[in-house]
Amino acid sequence: MMGSRASRQLSIWIWCCACLLAMGNAEAQTTLRALAKTKGKLVGTSLSSNYIDNPASMPSGYQSTLANEFNVYVAENSFKMSELLPNAPANPFDIQISDLSTAKIDIMVARARENGVGMIRGHALIWHTQAPSWLTTSAPGWTADQITAFATSYIKAVVTYCKTINDAVDAPVRIYEWDVINETIDKSKARAKKRSRGSAAKSSIGYRTGTWYDGVANRQAFIDAIFRAARNADPNVRLVYNDYGIEMYGSPKCNFMLNMVGGMVSRGVPIDGVGLQCHFIGPDPSGAGGFSSSDARKFEQTFAALRALGLDGIVTEFDLRLQTDSTTIEGNVTSRQLALQGDQYRLIVATALSQSNCPALLTWGFTDAQSWIPWACPGYGHALPFDRSYAKKPAYEGITTAIKALPTVEENKASSLTTTLPTASAMTFGQALSNSTLSGGEGSVPGSFTFASPPVAPTRMKSEKRPVASLASMWSASQATATEIWRASSESPAY
Ligand code: XIL
Repeated sequence: MMGSRASRQLSIWIWCCACLLAMGNAEAQTTLRALAKTKGKLVGTSLSSNYIDNPASMPSGYQSTLANEFNVYVAENSFKMSELLPNAPANPFDIQISDLSTAKIDIMVARARENGVGMIRGHALIWHTQAPSWLTTSAPGWTADQITAFATSYIKAVVTYCKTINDAVDAPVRIYEWDVINETIDKSKARAKKRSRGSAAKSSIGYRTGTWYDGVANRQAFIDAIFRAARNADPNVRLVYNDYGIEMYGSPKCNFMLNMVGGMVSRGVPIDGVGLQCHFIGPDPSGAGGFSSSDARKFEQTFAALRALGLDGIVTEFDLRLQTDSTTIEGNVTSRQLALQGDQYRLIVATALSQSNCPALLTWGFTDAQSWIPWACPGYGHALPFDRSYAKKPAYEGITTAIKALPTVEENKASSLTTTLPTASAMTFGQALSNSTLSGGEGSVPGSFTFASPPVAPTRMKSEKRPVASLASMWSASQATATEIWRASSESPAY
C-alpha cells in the first residue's frame, strides 16, 4: 500500500501533469490573433463580398473562423470603385460623398465591429480593373487633367467619408490604411518591341497601359497627385502602393517599384508603405518547387530596401497555390504537397513578420471554400490555411509556428533600448539613388536599382518625410477605443 506521503506526491504529480496538458491544449488552441497580439503584429484576411453583403448566407464555420482568428480585415471586392461608384455621377470631375455607395463601407465596418476587429485596410482606390463600366466608357474621351480631377476628387470623397468613421468618438473600427493605386506597374511586350525597334520583343517593365487612365501621359505626376489627395483628405490615414510580382529583390518589377516609390519619397510625396501581394506558387504534385530559401533571402532584401527608404512592406494578399490533378475545376492535391505548403507558409510568414518594417500580413481569403485561385488560375487551388470545411491545414500550423518564434512586444522594446538608431550608418535615400540607375525621368524604364549594401538594420529607420503616425501608435489608439467594445460585450480584444 502506498504511504500517505507518497500518495500526496503522486496527486501533486498528476495535478502538475494535468496543468501541463491543459497549458499544452491552451497553446494548441491559441488563435492567430491572440498570438499576433503578443508579438505586436497584425494578422488578417480578406472578406468575401457574398458574405459582407448577405451575412445570413454566411456558413457558421466561416463566421467563427473569421471572428476568432484575425485582427485586421480587408474587403475582397466591396471597396473597389465598381462597388463604391457604380453609377455615373452628376459631375465626374468633382465627385461628392453623395455620389458614393457608402453602404458598402458601412456594412464592412459593421462586420468588423460585430467580430471585435478594430482595423480595416482599404483596398483599392485606383485600379485599372473592377472600375465601373460608365467610367471605362467615358474616360477614354477625357483629357489628362480631367482624369486627374476625377481620380483626386473620387479619392477625396472616399477617404473623407472613411475619416468620419475613423474620427467618431471612441471609433471602434478604423480604416487605417489605403491602397491608393493598385498594380500600376506591368510587363509590356508592345513597349519592349518599340524599344528594340521591332527585333525580338522581350517583355519590359513600365507603367501599365490599357487602363482607363491611359490618357495621363505623365504617370508619375498622376500617382503623386493621387497620394497627395488621399493625404489631404485624411492626414492620419496610411497610404500604400500595392502590387503583385514585386516581392523578389533584383527582379525587374521590384526594381521598377523601388525606383518609383523611392522617387516619391525623394519628392516628399506622402507614402507609408508598399503592399506586397504575395500570390505565390507552392510545390507541384511531385513535391518540387515553390517558395525556396533563396526566395526568402530575396524577399527579405526587398523589405530591407523599403526600410532604407523609410517605408513599410505589408503582406497584403498572401496565398500559396498548389497545382491540382484537374486542369479546370479545383481538383485534389497530395498530402505531401499540403505538408510542404505548411513549411513554405512558415518560411514566408517568418521572413515577412520578422522584419521591423512589416507590421501586417493578410491572407487573400482564409478557406479553400472561398478563394479566387481556382477561378483565376485554373488547375490550381488549396491556397489558403483552412480547408473547405474550415479545418486547419498544415499551412495554418506554418503561420502559428512562425508567429510563435517572433520576439514579443516586450522583448522588442528591451532590444530597441540597446540598439542605436542606424541614422548615421544607414544609407540615405540620396545615396541609394545615386547608386541606382534612376535617371531617365517620366516614362523611363529604369535598370537595376542597386543599393551599395542593402541595409538590414533591425530597427526601423526614421524618415523625416514620413508624415503620419506610426502604425504602432495608430494601433494602440485603436486598442484604447476598442476597449469600450470589449467592456460592453465582454468579448475578446478588438484587434
Ligand atoms: C480579386 C478577387 O479576389 C476576385 O473575387 C475578383 O473577381 C477579382 O479580384 N489582386 C488584387 C485583388 O489586388 O483585388 C484581386 O482580387 C486579386 C489580385
